Amino acid sequence: MSAGEPWWAESVIYQIYPRSFFDSNGDGEGDLPGITSHLEHVQSLGADAIWLSPFYTSPNKDGGYDVADPRGVDPRFGNLEDARAMIARAHQLGLRVLVDIVPNHFSDQHRWFKDAISAKPGSVERSRFHFYDPKADGTPPNNWISLFGGPAWTQVKSSDGSAQYYLHLFDSSQPDLNWDNQDVADDFEKTLRFWLDLGADGFRIDVAHGLAKENILVDHHDPQGLSDALRLDVEMSSEKRGELLSSVPFFDRDGVHPIYRNWRKLFDSYNRDVMAVAEAWVHPPVRATRYVRNDELQQVFNFDLLVAPFDAAFLYKCINDTLEMLRRVNAPATWALSNHDTPRVASRHGAKASRALALFVMALPGSCYIYNGQELGLPDAEIADADRQDPAFFRTKGVHKGRDGARVPMPWNGGQTPFGFSSGKPWLPIPENWRELSVSAQEADATSTLNLYRKALKIRKENLVGAGEIEWVDHGESGLISFARGEFAIYLNTSSTVLQIPSVGTLALGSDIDVTLENGSLTLPGATAAWVAIR
Ligand code: GLC
Ligand code: CA
Repeated sequence: MSAGEPWWAESVIYQIYPRSFFDSNGDGEGDLPGITSHLEHVQSLGADAIWLSPFYTSPNKDGGYDVADPRGVDPRFGNLEDARAMIARAHQLGLRVLVDIVPNHFSDQHRWFKDAISAKPGSVERSRFHFYDPKADGTPPNNWISLFGGPAWTQVKSSDGSAQYYLHLFDSSQPDLNWDNQDVADDFEKTLRFWLDLGADGFRIDVAHGLAKENILVDHHDPQGLSDALRLDVEMSSEKRGELLSSVPFFDRDGVHPIYRNWRKLFDSYNRDVMAVAEAWVHPPVRATRYVRNDELQQVFNFDLLVAPFDAAFLYKCINDTLEMLRRVNAPATWALSNHDTPRVASRHGAKASRALALFVMALPGSCYIYNGQELGLPDAEIADADRQDPAFFRTKGVHKGRDGARVPMPWNGGQTPFGFSSGKPWLPIPENWRELSVSAQEADATSTLNLYRKALKIRKENLVGAGEIEWVDHGESGLISFARGEFAIYLNTSSTVLQIPSVGTLALGSDIDVTLENGSLTLPGATAAWVAIR
């Protein structure tokens, strides 16, 4: 970090999916004590911070993103003392801690929603959510579709004869909160303070673009097109997606921003560089910069790389556009190649290309997010339908397989599954052929993906952080992109042909052993990347 830069500006943030990191008590699910006992892995990787997906009290219908008590720990993960100990251990190892905050919806098991169900239409209890009467023909108040498939409304028939519907953009067990209700805003401020007071350093804000809804009583003109456009696994041109998303009445409305301005004041009152990163899938991408204006949040995820093809010209444009638009609001970029919602990068591009892409991205200015298992090069696992848990699978009646393949537990060591993750039966089976991919197998192999990440993050911290902006050299012609930054020249070859590049430097790191630099010539085979020290 250069002098004066806040800790998060160029931080490496490691995402832990608590259910899948390490199981300390043999029930087959990862937990907080398991995280605490394995944080050294994160430290030795060279990360600066962890972000934990939810571990709060939850019936777990959507991997814990259905929160029944945002200030309580689910017993499956441990208790508050375990959370405190986990944060303390992270701090001891020099790791900051971000927790997930889920403000768009609660679980239907939250006390407020149970109260709302037993209260009358028009009551205070119902006004914390979006309850509306049916249309005259008995159908839902509008034709919006859940992002997980099916209608966005579920009907509640009460003994008083009323039959209102409530809104849920996700699963029916995740009723959307009404942010026009002051109780909602007050409760979230309480939750933010609760975790900050427990020691957290900041937040990842779930569905940050969804809190304000407009025109609820109006039908959307193309609900199926809309729901397809919202799903990143549905292929369509970016023009088509943009056209469909430009008028979504429940995402990226102006009304979300006053909420983050208030949160920012709360963060700043802590006097210790509290930060938050927004999950905001918006269109066109430049709309994301509105979330990181100087009185709002500090970071917003850039999702382009999660869906980008392995194509130099495309990557050049995507990275360059991102850097330029964020420069205008003076906010750092964020780079993520995998998370718990999308197919893993090693499955999207294959092992070799995904290593090359990761090495290239780790040299960029800004913050780098690494999803647990990405540093092992884990692919998505094949999951039998009977093992699936994602509500997206059930709500689409199996048409969309869902996200479970990217959520399989970490292989740590040993000769057979579950590779040290648990002494019991893991909640999702770990493939037998992940033996070579375990942490201990890769530690023993100098050329492993794990060691590539470790070496890269070490050089990054020592030589690249604080080195300022990049200077593009190759823009994707013949499959090559390259830039100079600080003392390094950084190359990525996305073509399938070997490139020979004249070079005066020395090879600091190659994404594979076939990358070499001899007699003033860098050999960059197809799907590889290199960091060359040039000064
Ligand atoms: C976010 C989470 C995802 C969850 C959804 C609903 O997109 O990352 O896992 O299903 O929000 O909370
Ligand atoms: Ca456990």
